[in-house]
Amino acid sequence: MKNILITGGAGFIGSHVVRLFVNKYPEYKIVNLDKLTYAGNLENLKDIENVSNYAFVKADICDFESVSNVFAKYSINGVLHLAAESHVDRSIKDPFTFAKTNILGTLSLLQAAKECWKENYSDKLFHHISTDEVYGALQFDETLFTEQTKYNPHSPYSASKAGSDHFVRAFHNTYGLPVVITNCSNNYGPYQFPEKLIPLFINNICNNKPLPVYGKGENVRDWLYVIDHARAIDLIFHKGRTGETYNIGGFNEWKNIDLIKVIIKTVDKFLGRAEGESEKLITYVTDRAGHDLRYAIDSSKLKNELGWQPSLQFEEGIEKTVKWYLENRQWLDNVTSGAYKQYYEEYYEYRDKK
Ligand code: NAD
Ligand code: TYD
Repeated sequence: MKNILITGGAGFIGSHVVRLFVNKYPEYKIVNLDKLTYAGNLENLKDIENVSNYAFVKADICDFESVSNVFAKYSINGVLHLAAESHVDRSIKDPFTFAKTNILGTLSLLQAAKECWKENYSDKLFHHISTDEVYGALQFDETLFTEQTKYNPHSPYSASKAGSDHFVRAFHNTYGLPVVITNCSNNYGPYQFPEKLIPLFINNICNNKPLPVYGKGENVRDWLYVIDHARAIDLIFHKGRTGETYNIGGFNEWKNIDLIKVIIKTVDKFLGRAEGESEKLITYVTDRAGHDLRYAIDSSKLKNELGWQPSLQFEEGIEKTVKWYLENRQWLDNVTSGAYKQYYEEYYEYRDKK
């Protein structure tokens, strides 16, 4: 595969995947197709925007004609599909947009791949990037999600991602389209839009704003540094078995409130504040509707088959992340102002009303 279409490459994870592929594979052509929604930010790719093996196309994955034109123009033979609406809170407010982008958008890409590749499937691959949230929620005493865990999505976001996974499998079963699906746990790291827990809280601590902890802060998430996710995607894209699913995660579960205290400690240290000083910003707020108690993923298949494991310990990843946001305040300011402001206001207005 030489001509790779990466969708959603201007977003958080997508920008890391684009950067990895552009730098690591100079012989490939990397085409980044992104609609540039509120979450898409070309600033994330400033350092590689002029590299000769990289091209950007502004388009909506739901626009079948535009997507088909990109497949034809660049003779696409590999797809890394990341474009999606990705924030659970937004999905609660606006499920239609999630169904449209995540389900119909994925269908549009699958159909374009099928028509463009005309059953000449050797050396082709459609890699769909999905989430562990499709498996539903675990109780504290339950064993981790494996690739055999039955789908049981709870939020409009996870339902839409589950729908897209099912369509990807349906295209494999029905038309023989070569596909692979990866389901990853919660990511953190540079360039994450500050509506998600970790960058939101780093930003709020810096600005002495309240830290809204949903419910009692007892929900558990399994966190993975974004560059380790990008490394796993690279490995599975090149060496994974077609038709398979691989779970990606760091065996790194954290109760929200414990994680929040680590973030506070790290930011306070960098800002020269007394240890734990910013804990006074913790504000318990109304819980998220249908808030999944616990996600935790078993990625042994990936480790055993392909030898992948996370490269960073969590404390190291959090230090790197906090440092990055503090050194890139301009990035944060640009995201939280201007074009992004309207979305922010609507979003906070909605949350404050809850
Ligand atoms: P993100 O919200 O940061 O970025 C999504 C990108 O998709 C943006 O650049 C946006 O402009 C683009 N996009 C949205 N709708 C589009 C459309 N209709 N057409 C073209 N582009 C469109 O998301 P992320 O956190 O980087 O997640 C990327 C993928 O990884 C998603 O599929 C998500 O479900 C999956 N995932 C995310 C996590 C996580 O913790 N963030 C974990 C597991 C899986
Ligand atoms: P989030 O980053 O939105 O990811 P996801 O919902 O996909 O896991 O949230 C991570 C956890 O943090 C989740 O349990 C919800 C919680 N949370 C808060 O307590 N306060 C917040 O302001 C946000 C955004 C999330």
